[in-house]
Amino acid sequence: MTIAAARAFPNIALVKYWGKRDEDLILPVAGSLSLTLDAFATTTSVQVMPSAEADAFELNGSTATGEAARRVSTFLDHIRARAGSAARARVTSTNEAPTGAGLASSAAGFAALATAASAAYGLDLDRRELSRLARRGSGSAARSIVPEVAVWHAGHDDHSSFAEPVDAPDMQMVIVTVDTAQKTVSSREAMRRTAATSPYFPAWISSTEQSLAEMVDACAAGDFTRIGEIAESHALRMHGAIEACDPPIRYLAPRSVAVFDAVASLRAQGVEGYATADAGPNVAVLVRPEHAERLRDSLAELGEARLVGPGAGATLIDPSGGVD
Ligand code: DP6
Repeated sequence: MTIAAARAFPNIALVKYWGKRDEDLILPVAGSLSLTLDAFATTTSVQVMPSAEADAFELNGSTATGEAARRVSTFLDHIRARAGSAARARVTSTNEAPTGAGLASSAAGFAALATAASAAYGLDLDRRELSRLARRGSGSAARSIVPEVAVWHAGHDDHSSFAEPVDAPDMQMVIVTVDTAQKTVSSREAMRRTAATSPYFPAWISSTEQSLAEMVDACAAGDFTRIGEIAESHALRMHGAIEACDPPIRYLAPRSVAVFDAVASLRAQGVEGYATADAGPNVAVLVRPEHAERLRDSLAELGEARLVGPGAGATLIDPSGGVD
């Protein structure tokens, strides 16, 4: 096959990945766990172009250059090495999430690219291999290969660091978009700076390992309340570690904090939701399905509030848009 297309969705981490122990292989210092969503898809097609001199990358209708294009080419190099090909490729991607605003668009992007590009270069990879491959583009992309709830095992080398599905109770999320502007410090840079300068980084890592073990148990037990409690306190710990960087970085905006407060007061009224936020100001609220619409309607005055559910893993599609 010389042309292939795939679709993937972002994921929101309930136990977060924040810190690498190998920058080249993208091995995390700790494992993480996430919910893949059924909204904000990225659709990517890859065409192998044996006579082209360079890769070409088009994102949302515009030619990408600089860092974004370099990351795509470096990622394709991993696939070319494995496929024994030197051919360049044309990559065309459309992304329904606001890029760079903390809605994990790089996760959906590299999960879709791994799936489409490996097929276009003739590789036949299983889900675990695709997860390992997607990880090389962006760590969190390892989890967007997987449907619904995914645990990413930190592992100790390229082979052992991958995501796989775990059973969990029914959960939904309300994504509250308070700001769609591109973030000023990328998560990659902020992660590096946190590891290098935040005095809280060692505590963050040990607390993440503990949160992950408790989260996996809570998922297996179907304990929504415990899942939510761990997710919210864990998210605030990550933001605490980031804010303690030198120079400091603060992703949460006043409107993000207002959403956390509103969620706490809704909980006191019996609407069970728990807030989390990635490297940006937008807030994702984990909610019991039976409380989801009430929570969404209550949060709508603080930002655009969208109710989403658990989504599919990365999937090959045919170029006309149907599932292969
Ligand atoms: C806050 O996966 O974007 O969303 O591996 O450097 O590309 P790189 O980082 P990335 O970081 C995601 C960080 C996070 C938490 C998470 O998704 O677990």
